[in-house]
Amino acid sequence: MLILGIETSCDETGVALYDAAAGRLLAHVVHSQVDMHEAYGGVVPELASRDHVRRLVPLARGLFERTGRKVGELQAVAYTEGPGLAGALLVGASFAHALAAALGVPALGIHHLEGHLLSPLLSARPPQFPFVALLVSGGHTQLMRVEGVGRYELLGETQDDAAGEAFDKTAHLLGLGYPGGPALSKLAEHGHAGRYKLPRPMIASGDLEFSFSGLKTAVMLLVRGSVPHGQFTADVARAFQDAIVEVLVAKCALAMEQTGLTRLVVAGGVGANKQLRAALDANARVRGYDVVYPEPELCTDNGAMIALAAALRLRRGAAGGGTHAFTVRPRWALEALR
Ligand code: KG4
Ligand code: ZN
Repeated sequence: MLILGIETSCDETGVALYDAAAGRLLAHVVHSQVDMHEAYGGVVPELASRDHVRRLVPLARGLFERTGRKVGELQAVAYTEGPGLAGALLVGASFAHALAAALGVPALGIHHLEGHLLSPLLSARPPQFPFVALLVSGGHTQLMRVEGVGRYELLGETQDDAAGEAFDKTAHLLGLGYPGGPALSKLAEHGHAGRYKLPRPMIASGDLEFSFSGLKTAVMLLVRGSVPHGQFTADVARAFQDAIVEVLVAKCALAMEQTGLTRLVVAGGVGANKQLRAALDANARVRGYDVVYPEPELCTDNGAMIALAAALRLRRGAAGGGTHAFTVRPRWALEALR
């Protein structure tokens, strides 16, 4: 069963071909709009929608050429239904429904976070259910208990900024451009640990909630009045990364303790962060749990995770819309899924 997966929720156009019968990702491509939005310091929704319109068909066509598969072989078309930018979501949804209608196959609307959550199942060493998932992206920071496909319990989440948002806002304060996560992380490698000490928000709250907006403010106070430069910037980047990583690791450890589960799955863009991975691995060794990460290229937004989620839902008997009337859900709670 061949599934086309389409992701257009934000600033990446992702397209993937997944062979559900073989349980294998055949190929995927992602076009990032980062260069286009950089000049504005953040994603401009209208520009994002228009770029998805431009990219989607050529990307999909290239994928079929590259894999030697035919459009007519498709048995389902999956797309991100939400959450995300309304206009951007509509591009993927209308493309998917048009193609599915033309082929007479189902179109499946997929929850973006479910895609992230299940993306480690694409790895060479897929985790077994149940597991705890740490979702750390530009828009979300959540700990979930995952019993199976569609069985998600929210354990705790951020009360304000998401982890990726904190990375991006701090990077902006340090003059690192957009999105700043990867650049800040690279810079932090040259920073001296302990040169500056930043707060660890809510680390001792005893629950699984997060708060990151104060961290960005603390960085703002630290750099106020000084022009970002060389070693100073690197030291601040290091202090920020040390703080956020320490909080994320402490909350993951608490989630493992509270649930009694022994597997942790990390998903979302911040999951690509090297220092976070090293710290989680070290904690897992001490505490005796397993950590699984998606391949770094599948941590950020992509169509492969959308195709995979659709494959798993189809296996559970999901039918996909029989009609091709559709909607998108810019706001959509993951726990609302069944
Ligand atoms: O999952 P994702 O691609 O998109 C959303 O659904 O939000 O995550 C993007 C976020 C951005 O905030 C980006 O700065 C952050 O992930 N990010 C990183 C790293 N790579 C991406 N943050 C820290 N370290 C990284 N290596
Ligand atoms: Zn995402």
